[in-house]
Amino acid sequence: MFELFQVSRKFGVFPALEDITFNIMAGERVAVVGPSGAGKSTLIRLLNGTLFSTTGEVRVLGQRLDQLSPQALRQVQSRVGTVYQQFHLVDNLRVVHNLNAGHLNRWSLTKSLVSLIRPMDVQGAFNALEQVGIPEKLYERTDRLSGGQQQRVAIARVLIQDPEAILADEPISNLDPELSKEVIDILVDLSVCSGKTLFCSLHAIEFALSNFGRIIGLRRGRILFDSAAENVTDEMIKSVYRG
Ligand SMILES: Nc1ncnc2c1ncn2[C@@H]1O[C@H](COP(=O)(O)OP(=O)(O)O)[C@@H](O)[C@H]1O
Ligand SMILES: [Mg+2]
Repeated sequence: MFELFQVSRKFGVFPALEDITFNIMAGERVAVVGPSGAGKSTLIRLLNGTLFSTTGEVRVLGQRLDQLSPQALRQVQSRVGTVYQQFHLVDNLRVVHNLNAGHLNRWSLTKSLVSLIRPMDVQGAFNALEQVGIPEKLYERTDRLSGGQQQRVAIARVLIQDPEAILADEPISNLDPELSKEVIDILVDLSVCSGKTLFCSLHAIEFALSNFGRIIGLRRGRILFDSAAENVTDEMIKSVYRG
């Protein structure tokens, strides 16, 4: 699904990522952990093609993203869905409209605009919302939902896109611990049931260790370890969060 070989990404002269090499197989579930500034968001943006590497090779579904035409890049991007920390929903729209935005890659501009007035795919939106456990919120205004419910809507929108991989960039950092657990459970269950690859960045390692089989530890743009969860030691955890 994802292949990175000796990847670096600089912002100006600042190296946000250095010498990143790993492969993630289709259907794998991997957490990347590290403190703020470690490079987690940059890494996720390299994987969804919203940012390119400075050096090295990033392949998604076998294709080098920096060598694709804009159209071919969009094609690959439609097969990778991203859930963000800030949800990226339009607050004053009803949930059903935010969910229809999951179709934007495939629908024409006209169809997308008409759908803002009369939702085109109500059944699809309902099904996706049912999968994240809040089907009754279909016509609720998005800003009336709790943070946990809004993150579920963001996940449902990715499900409508029906991607082969889900990237989640600190999806629980704005949620309290109980809701965090629910949202991680939903992401993991969806991946288990559908076989979709899941790559999730997390600030804290506890949720990662209890929910993911493979953990990548990132600090100052470098991989400190890439290991099965059961082999992650206290020493390794300290090395990531030290200082
Ligand atoms: N667009 C940008 N311009 C300049 N520096 C950036 C940009 N994006 C990220 N950085 C820097 O790269 C480093 C890694 O950032 P980021 O990937 O957001 O880390 P994380 O998500 O782990 O907190 C940070 O030092 C950050 O300030
Ligand atoms: Mg980040």
